[in-house]
Amino acid sequence: MKELPRKIIATSLIVGTILSIILVHSIDKNLFNPKEKGPWVLWQNNPSSEVIISWESKINEDSAVFYGENFNSLNNSIFNSTLTEIHHVLLTDLKSNTKYYYKIGSSQEIKDEINVFQTAPGDENTSFNFLAISDTQQASWSNGFCKKVASRLTKNIFQYDFMMNVGDFVWNGQDQSDWNDFFDIYGDVLNKTVLVPVIGNHDSTYPKANDTETNSKFLEYFPLSSNPNFYSYSFNYSMVHFTICDFKYGTEDEFENLRESQLDWIKNDLEQAQSSKFRIVSFHCPIKASGFHGINNYMVENLLPILKEYNVSLILNGHDHHYEHVRSDGIDSVILGGGGAFQDPHAILIDDSQNMFFGLTYTSISVNNDFIQVDTYTIDDELVDSFKVESMRNE
Ligand SMILES: [Fe+2]
Repeated sequence: MKELPRKIIATSLIVGTILSIILVHSIDKNLFNPKEKGPWVLWQNNPSSEVIISWESKINEDSAVFYGENFNSLNNSIFNSTLTEIHHVLLTDLKSNTKYYYKIGSSQEIKDEINVFQTAPGDENTSFNFLAISDTQQASWSNGFCKKVASRLTKNIFQYDFMMNVGDFVWNGQDQSDWNDFFDIYGDVLNKTVLVPVIGNHDSTYPKANDTETNSKFLEYFPLSSNPNFYSYSFNYSMVHFTICDFKYGTEDEFENLRESQLDWIKNDLEQAQSSKFRIVSFHCPIKASGFHGINNYMVENLLPILKEYNVSLILNGHDHHYEHVRSDGIDSVILGGGGAFQDPHAILIDDSQNMFFGLTYTSISVNNDFIQVDTYTIDDELVDSFKVESMRNE
């Protein structure tokens, strides 16, 4: 009889502790995962004259953007009466190679913060540079890797014309709190530049075979693809044609029906870009890597020959969690897996590997009329790798 109260008390304590943990966790999620996000800036067709200003608001509301070339006088405005939480406002007729300041809000309230972006050059001869990272994906994890990389990028984001993330923005694209964490951590970078997103396997459940369903917010936050079944788009920036593709898994049975149509799309896109001095192609899953995912034979046999045939200058990948410079069939590629994920020490060095590094990194890519310079640094600014790609244009 004396045992019963003790058992009841012990059980109550255990249940109470578990409930408290659940309650505190849910309160924490509510407190530290505000719904408001952004702004962030995207471009789609013509980066020299159009951008998309995006943000997420707490409630459904209309959209307003004030913008201009002078910080003290934002004398242009766009208002959209559609009520929405995720806002995408297209600015058109912008001047090329010009810095614009902007504020966002609604008819009820315009936010005080002034943000900035720069349009692309209007010619094909202006030198430029951009930041490339990938696999930021573990924003909320206790190692703080994602935050460390973001802090480093915040310091001199103004030195770059835009930033590309080659996929796996988040750990779980279906988990809203992961997206909240990403936008929270990258807020001070995204409000100062233009983001070029590439989709990763963790960003979306979409699609396998002909399944076009997705529960991920990736497509809602970055609605740039004109293809209903895969996430691909392209644009010209000065002397470079950028092709953004949707190869995000490492296995050959993915995209059973889609990979052919993707290859056709890539082939067609590159065919029309032969007059550009350089072609840079980005997709999440590498063709060859010395890391966990190794060599993708499907891509070696089907994608690499297309990239070779159409004179691709540089390939940007992620997915494997390390940095690597690979040269296959004369095409340089970099794996940008040091952007925030746990580093994976699994390595079987492939013959095509030129350099490999485990640790948090970011990559600076500068382009001029003669060459593309690719420099990768640790977040403490130690140079990890540096190489040059000469122009391959057929004159
Ligand atoms: Fe990945």
